[in-house]
Amino acid sequence: MNYSEIRKHLNIENKNSDYTDTVAAVTHFLQSDIQDRRHYSKAYIMPEDNLITVNDTEFQYELPIKYDIPFPPVTNPKFKFIDLFAGIGGFRLAFQELEGKCVFTSEWNKFSKKTYEANFGEIPFGDITKINAENIPDHDILCGGFPCQPFSIAGVSKKNSLGRSHGFLDEAQGTLFFDIVRILKKKRPKAFILENVKNLVSHDKGNTFRVIKGALDEVGYSIHCDVLDGKYFVPQHRERIFIVGFDREIFKGKEDFSFPTMPMGGHVIGDILEKEVNPKYTLSDKLWQYLQDYAAKHKAKGNGFGYGLVDFNNITRTISARYYKDGSEILIPQEGGLNPRRLTPRECARLQGYPENFIIPVSDTQAYRQFGNSVVMPLIEAIGENVVNTMLKWKV
Ligand SMILES: C[S@@+](CC[C@H](N)C(=O)[O-])C[C@H]1O[C@@H](n2cnc3c(N)ncnc32)[C@H](O)[C@@H]1O
Repeated sequence: MNYSEIRKHLNIENKNSDYTDTVAAVTHFLQSDIQDRRHYSKAYIMPEDNLITVNDTEFQYELPIKYDIPFPPVTNPKFKFIDLFAGIGGFRLAFQELEGKCVFTSEWNKFSKKTYEANFGEIPFGDITKINAENIPDHDILCGGFPCQPFSIAGVSKKNSLGRSHGFLDEAQGTLFFDIVRILKKKRPKAFILENVKNLVSHDKGNTFRVIKGALDEVGYSIHCDVLDGKYFVPQHRERIFIVGFDREIFKGKEDFSFPTMPMGGHVIGDILEKEVNPKYTLSDKLWQYLQDYAAKHKAKGNGFGYGLVDFNNITRTISARYYKDGSEILIPQEGGLNPRRLTPRECARLQGYPENFIIPVSDTQAYRQFGNSVVMPLIEAIGENVVNTMLKWKV
C-alpha cells in the first residue's frame, strides 16, 4: 500500500491544525520496527498491548508500505536517532543520509509539521515538555537544534527592552535545554549533537554556556564543542555552535572524535539563483525606499546595519527566521531598473543545502521562517559522519 493512500485514510491532509500526538504516534508506528511498533502501540495507540504480531520475517522490520514521499525511512539502518526541535528536518535529512533510522521526532509548530510530513511521511509529536521520556524509544544518537531566541543577540535585546529576563530565567524558552538533559538522563543515547547560535557561547558573560556544559557533564557525557561556518558547504555565512557528547559510561571519555576539517568552499550565491523568478519577489517601491532610508539613518549614526545587497560572486549574510518580514539581509540586485528582489523559498532551501526534491508545501511566509530557522544540512552531515563513525568504531 502507498503511504499517500494511508494518509488519505488518516485524513492527514485535513488535519493541518489538529496534528495530535495520537496521529503522530500512528505515523511513527507505521515506520517502526517490531520492537518500536510495540512501544508506540503501548504508549499511545493500544495501551493494553493487544497488538497482533506477525511472525513473518518480512514484517519484522517494516510494514509493507510504499513510501511515496521524497525521503522515506532507511531500510537496513546502521543506527537509530531522534530528532528534537525538528523544524523541517535538517538533522533528519543528514542522519538518514548517513543510514540512520529516525525513531522519534518532536516539533510543535503546525506549519513545520506539515513540511516534515510531506517529506518524511511522519508527523512529529508536539510540545517536548509534555513528552514523558519513557515514551521515547531507545536510540543511539539524540539530535537537537534547540530554540535560540533566549540566546541570540536580537532575542536578548528584544526581551530586555520588554523588561523581561532572558536565558535560563526565561521560563518559556530557556528551559527547553533541560528537556534535552531530562531525555539524556532517562534514555542514555550513546551520543548527541546539539546546535545553537554562536552567541550562546558569550551570552551572560559565558555563564549560560558554562551551565549548559556543566549540566551535560553532570549527566555523564564528555563534551566536544566548536563554532563552524556553513560557508564551506553553501554560499552563506552561518556560524553556529555545535556541542557533541559521548556517554562516559560507554566511551570512558576516550572516544576518538574530532570535528571535520572544512572543505575548500568557494560557493557563490550566483550559482544557486533561479533563472525565472515571479515578479512578486521584487520589493515594492515603498519597501525599497524604506530600507534605503533606514540604512542611511543608521549609517549617519555610525552603525553599519542596513540591507544586504548580494554580490553574485560571493556568499550571503546569515538568513534568519525574520527573512519573511522584508528580506533585507539578503537582497538580489536586478537588471533593467528593477528594485532588488528577495530570495524565493526554493533559493532559501538551496542556501541551506537542501536537496532539490525537498517539498515546500506551505506559504512563502512560513517557508522563509522554516528555512531561516533551519541548518546548513551538508554541514550537519559532515559533523554527523564523524559522530557516527566514532560511535560505530567503538562497537567493534
Ligand atoms: C532553531 S529551530 C530548529 C530547526 C531545525 N533544526 C531544522 O532543521 O529545521 C527550533 C524549533 O523548535 C521548535 N520548538 C520550540 N519549542 C518547542 C517545544 N516546546 N516542543 C517542540 N518543539 C518546539 C520551534 O517550533 C522550532 O521549529
